Amino acid sequence: TTVERVADLLDRMTVEEKVGQMLQLDARDDLRDHVLRRHVGSILHTSPERILEANRLTAETRLRIPLLVGEDCIHGHSFWPGATIYPTQLGMAASWDAELIERVARATAEEVAVTGVHWTFSPVLCIARDLRWGRISETFGEDPFLIGELASAMVRGYQGEGLDDPTAILATAKHFAGYSETQGGRDASEADISRRKLRSWFLPPFERVAREGCRTFMLGYQSTDGVPITINDWLLSEVLRGEWGYTGTLITDWDNVGRMVWEQRIQPDYAHAAAAAVTAGNDMVMTTPMFFEGALEAVERGMLAEDAFDAAVARILTLKFDLGLFEDPRLPSPRLDEVVGSAAHAELNLEIARRSIVLLENDGTLPLAATPASPLRVALVGPLADDAQTQLGDWAGGSGQAGWLDGQPREMITTVFDGLRAIDGWTVEYARGADILTLEDDPRGATFPDGQPRPPVVVPSPPSAELLAEAVAAAEASDVVVAVVGDRIELVGEGRSTATLELIGGQNALLDALIETGKPVVVVLLASKPLVLPPSAAKAAAVLWAANPGMLGGQAIAEIIAGRVEPSGRLPISFARHVGQQPTYYNQIRGQHGDRYADLTQAPAWAFGQGLSYTTVEYADLALATDTLGVGDEIVAEVTVRNTGDRPVRETVQVYVRDKITSVSWADIELKAYRQVDLAPGETARVSLRLPVAECTIVDSAGDRHVEPGEFELLVGPSSRETDLLSAGFVLR
Ligand code: IFM
Repeated sequence: TTVERVADLLDRMTVEEKVGQMLQLDARDDLRDHVLRRHVGSILHTSPERILEANRLTAETRLRIPLLVGEDCIHGHSFWPGATIYPTQLGMAASWDAELIERVARATAEEVAVTGVHWTFSPVLCIARDLRWGRISETFGEDPFLIGELASAMVRGYQGEGLDDPTAILATAKHFAGYSETQGGRDASEADISRRKLRSWFLPPFERVAREGCRTFMLGYQSTDGVPITINDWLLSEVLRGEWGYTGTLITDWDNVGRMVWEQRIQPDYAHAAAAAVTAGNDMVMTTPMFFEGALEAVERGMLAEDAFDAAVARILTLKFDLGLFEDPRLPSPRLDEVVGSAAHAELNLEIARRSIVLLENDGTLPLAATPASPLRVALVGPLADDAQTQLGDWAGGSGQAGWLDGQPREMITTVFDGLRAIDGWTVEYARGADILTLEDDPRGATFPDGQPRPPVVVPSPPSAELLAEAVAAAEASDVVVAVVGDRIELVGEGRSTATLELIGGQNALLDALIETGKPVVVVLLASKPLVLPPSAAKAAAVLWAANPGMLGGQAIAEIIAGRVEPSGRLPISFARHVGQQPTYYNQIRGQHGDRYADLTQAPAWAFGQGLSYTTVEYADLALATDTLGVGDEIVAEVTVRNTGDRPVRETVQVYVRDKITSVSWADIELKAYRQVDLAPGETARVSLRLPVAECTIVDSAGDRHVEPGEFELLVGPSSRETDLLSAGFVLR
């Protein structure tokens, strides 16, 4: 059995080999040193050559323990030129379609597995809070229930039917836990968050995937109450391992152990840092080479017993045995070219791109009709209309996180420019209209203290009179303007938070000038996260948010604009009107003085759950089977939805619960369920909704989650806005 094999191997390992097994090092550095001197258990940031080289070196080691190969395959195989790159996680979340996301993760696992990678650091279960945070696009949005549904689907997709399936890869739930509760949106800042708040909103998605068998968890960069998560005994031992009974593997984030020495300065040296990390129950230490020396010194100095590493090493070896790596190290496969970037995956990519686009406003201009007999003159304007890189988003293309396109074949990408040009009967005139930014070297130096490259400084471009004049001329000669604006990759990602949420560079001036022409302007927001549009955009004919829609996003956008595909995305996250409204999430604690700032409403520009279709859907007759229930019962309800227009629709019927009186301050409403229904033009359906009463919980002041009997409301409708919801009261006894 695996248990026996693990015990046998562990018995034969030296303390150096055990410490090395706990290390994951960067394959771009000295592989020979990693494998032969530090005995590493795992590598990341690989290429087939590096994987093969590492494998050759492993054959020279005493025990020939195979390497685990990890990678950030976040929305497709990010590090692989030619791999299928899907919409970002936030884009995919707008589909609200767990089954589709599971298929995307399955297809990603197939591509990842043939390249010799066994482990992806995905999905992200962080809750989007302050939108200035650079990693908002990596989340599934702001709602814990939706995050739990979609993350669990993604984990199922990656891990497949079982790890012995050669297309299965390990999933990672990250970043445990509270990392997104930033200070001012700044990445990796202190997470000032109470245990009760963690239990209320941040932990439930993690608990769900832990219980469902997600094989690995990654700890974030944040500290809470002065304690970095890497050594947070309460979260790691009491909650995760204890209460949830989690037996999976814990990996730190990048150099978390080293950071305790050189950044947070809470450990005097690597021996102390290693001892603290091992004692707290970490299994794998990412990219802290000095963990090796530190841990051995800790043993020598009596800070750690020789068997202190056994539990961690056993968990790592278990993963390797379960993946069958001792029998087959799963090296890059000869089938690689057939699987990576396949036509079937492109189809799936297009399907999710179409489903991830959210129509936020439409005065009836969309869909744009055109026939060969009545051609349409489209002015395509904006700096992002033909920007392949922005379309892919973060963690995409050749070198991964920085997202730079090196190696990603341009011909696999359809930009909005390509997409619109492919529509018959349209003539498309393109004008850039504005620049967004330029880059300058950071005056503090090219690297961080740990030697990692420091990103350049972003300098917003000023509006250009010349570019504006060209765009206005193109608009004036057109029937309709499609303006593609948003953010660029340099404003997105780890360590790349923004102070503002506005469109930067010359983009606001461009929108103002286009609106001023009086032509109908369709704004396509190619933005990694919710951005704030200028006041002139209130006069836009339509607004679409496409996030970073992946390789075929431009085609999907064009098809929606042309009415070949029905828009069906719904917001997994609220849009602010102003950066000062942060955070804007819908499920905030009730009880604030007034419902507005003195100088601005508190209402978001577009709320969680919102999204239009090319038809209208009426909700009526919400009825509960019974309005008095016990804690063990199920809420059974029905609602009528009617497609009152002449186009089909996929409607997302959202179910919220309001606990009317709670013993603690609590969110006014919370999403508890949803169903997607396809309605033909004119079709009416009676949709049945079921929800266990046990889901209607609060977390009390002692931190315990339970149902509090009393009066409740079930709210059903197309978005989280009160005015969109039908309500039915019920009593819990
Ligand atoms: O997986 C990532 C993590 O999300 C952020 N820091 C680096 C890791 C490995 O690349």
